Amino acid sequence: MKILGIETSCDETAVAIVEGRGENVRVIRDAVASQIKIHAKYGGVVPEVAARAHVEKIDALLRGLRTADYGLRRDGKGIDAIAVTAGPGLITSLRVGVDVARTLAWAWDKPLVGVNHLEGHIYANFIGDENGKKRGGKGKEKGIRFPAVVLIVSGGHTELVLMTRHGKYRLLGATRDDAAGEAFDKVAKILGLGYPGGPAVSKAAGRGNPDAIAFPRPMINSPDFDFSFAGLKTSVLYRVRDSKFHIPNSKFIADVCASFEKAAVEVLVEKTIRAAAKHKAKTVLLAGGVAANSRLRKDLGRAISARLPTTHYSLPTLEYTTDNAAMIAAAGYFRARKRQFADPLKLEPRADWQL
Ligand code: KG4
Ligand code: ZN
Repeated sequence: MKILGIETSCDETAVAIVEGRGENVRVIRDAVASQIKIHAKYGGVVPEVAARAHVEKIDALLRGLRTADYGLRRDGKGIDAIAVTAGPGLITSLRVGVDVARTLAWAWDKPLVGVNHLEGHIYANFIGDENGKKRGGKGKEKGIRFPAVVLIVSGGHTELVLMTRHGKYRLLGATRDDAAGEAFDKVAKILGLGYPGGPAVSKAAGRGNPDAIAFPRPMINSPDFDFSFAGLKTSVLYRVRDSKFHIPNSKFIADVCASFEKAAVEVLVEKTIRAAAKHKAKTVLLAGGVAANSRLRKDLGRAISARLPTTHYSLPTLEYTTDNAAMIAAAGYFRARKRQFADPLKLEPRADWQL
């Protein structure tokens, strides 16, 4: 089954065509027009600017899929269904993708799936080659088995979710303030590393000493599965403000980044392991933009091997960790298989749609 995916929930305009077969999803074509440069000068995403950029980019991206290689024809022939992110996200941004998808579904008479963006991040774990193998990813080759505990870490969300089967979720815990990615972005801002901050902090951390500064590990011993990152970010702010070093001092910046990263990752790993143990998870899945972080990928893997040796670990291929349309199409495939379609005349974006 071939699915056209459309993603415009935040600051990336993305389209993709994937082919789903059984439990495997293979990407035929995936294209992203990033707005990073546009928003960088504001230090964050400006919703009205983002929506306008989606409108300007989406037609050209879709036209790019209309080649013999990618199989999308002018009349929509070549695909079986359309999947679009319907929330959560910026409402004006979501509206662009949803309206385009509704129009195409209606004009081409194709089934339409409204996909939850977080479900998309989860289904990035199901993307592999035709044999289900993931490049640089992990896990799919042995299959993802349920129940699974999913750690979703993105710019807007930090959640631990119990996934009992395809499309079925129970929220175990979430951040009470900042999301993990948001904390990375704010630390980058404090240190003058620019936007988006995650990749910059992670890069600088690679040159630093993760034990240089003892930052707090908020809520690491609380019995629930909630998180809090605002206090950790404030500790970084105070440490930088009180420092005798003047920014830019690259050794100091690297040590702050490495120590912050270690503190944040330790909390994420500890809570994930405890949730997986409590719920007897057969698989632990990592999902969302912060799943690109190499310390998190590695440390979570090590902790699972050491403490839950029979639990399987799945993480997405690096290129599908941050926002893209292939993951939306992949999630759309699993819903289309069950014929969970939306009415093209009625699908509405929902800014705060819970998983
Ligand atoms: O999932 P995503 O692309 O967008 C949302 O749905 O929010 O996640 C973006 C977030 C940003 O906060 C970004 O700084 C963070 O993911 N991020 C990282 C890394 N790459 C992206 N955080 C830490 N380390 C990284 N390597
Ligand atoms: Zn995202």
